[in-house]
Amino acid sequence: MKSLLSPPALLLSLAIGTTGLATSQQSSGCGKPVPSVIELGKPKNLTIASDSGVTPRKYRIHVPEYYDPNVPVPLILSFHGRSKDMKFQDELSQFSNASYGFEGIAVYPEGVPSPKGTKQWQGDPDAPTTINDITFTLELLDHLLSRYCIDPSLIYASGKSNGGGFTGLLACDPLATTRIAAFAAVSGAFYLDPSTQQLPPCTPSPNRPKIPILELHGAKDTTIHYLGGPNDRSNGDTLDIPAWVDGWAARNGLEASENVTGTLCEGKKEVTTHTWGDGVVVHYLYGNMYHDWPSRWGDGDSRTLTTCVGADATRVLLEWFGGWRL
Ligand SMILES: *[C@@H]1O[C@H](CO)[C@@H](O)[C@H](O)[C@H]1NC(C)=O
Ligand SMILES: *[C@@H]1O[C@H](CO)[C@@H](O)[C@H](O)[C@H]1NC(C)=O
Ligand SMILES: *[C@@H]1O[C@H](CO)[C@@H](O)[C@H](O)[C@H]1NC(C)=O
Repeated sequence: MKSLLSPPALLLSLAIGTTGLATSQQSSGCGKPVPSVIELGKPKNLTIASDSGVTPRKYRIHVPEYYDPNVPVPLILSFHGRSKDMKFQDELSQFSNASYGFEGIAVYPEGVPSPKGTKQWQGDPDAPTTINDITFTLELLDHLLSRYCIDPSLIYASGKSNGGGFTGLLACDPLATTRIAAFAAVSGAFYLDPSTQQLPPCTPSPNRPKIPILELHGAKDTTIHYLGGPNDRSNGDTLDIPAWVDGWAARNGLEASENVTGTLCEGKKEVTTHTWGDGVVVHYLYGNMYHDWPSRWGDGDSRTLTTCVGADATRVLLEWFGGWRL
């Protein structure tokens, strides 16, 4: 499986298609100069006009130091958790941190505050129903692809908690699934519709018979419980995580018997892995983890320090994303 991690040569071969497996595609932003507001290698807060129900909408972008407007790169979207913001998510998910070796563009969109004052995403029961975050995401993709040299087959969505739940909504959207290659939720909050106690309808594009999807969760999560039920804010129930993952395996046409169990970290019991269909559906259960983005060195959720490199969520996501393209 390819990886979005260094060594850079690997990424370059992925980007320019020398592997012979796939030829890179180019967005309309290829060949255009870097927008003057951007300083390569530094984060920048920006906005776009949007029809999502409120305009403008905010996002934070990191264009890597060695960006070349003639070489298409991957794009990762990273959505923050409820009551957090785009800067927090930048620092939490670390896709901008050169030490992880991701040489694509990382974008951290920001939710719109609810009347309670917290920023969140569609799916959270407090999210204003007038705001369509999927519309915003699609508009943001159009905007980014027209300004930066991105390979449109290498676009990925990730998020923490409510932001992870929102990546699940993108994975169920008929248009977003024609734009985004793979979806990853860390400590995902998959809210049930309060009136039906079901997830919202899931209608990926019929052109995507298999949607690559990954979820990481802590057994000790007391905010979005592993086995679901009322969350700690009592503003709605979430689905239990095994049911959500099993649902994705079924939707992708994979049998329950294809659920392959293993461990990370040289066989230590810290993280149990479940994978279906060569990693199309992946779920890691962290035995000691709370409501966190697992990290080896302590990020914004520093309660959970994993002991092995392979369990660091940023690495897990970069490695897994590298295996998928549209
Ligand atoms: C960027 O946005 C964050 C909120 O996500 C804010 O805390 C920060 O001050 C902003 N930075 C600048 C330079 O405006
Ligand atoms: C980048 O990641 C390293 C660990 O790989 C960490 O020690 C460092 O603090 C991070 N830098 C920032 C700015 O977060
Ligand atoms: C996969 O299999 C394991 C063990 O057989 C089971 O406990 C689990 O619920 C299954 N599904 C998920 C999503 O882990």
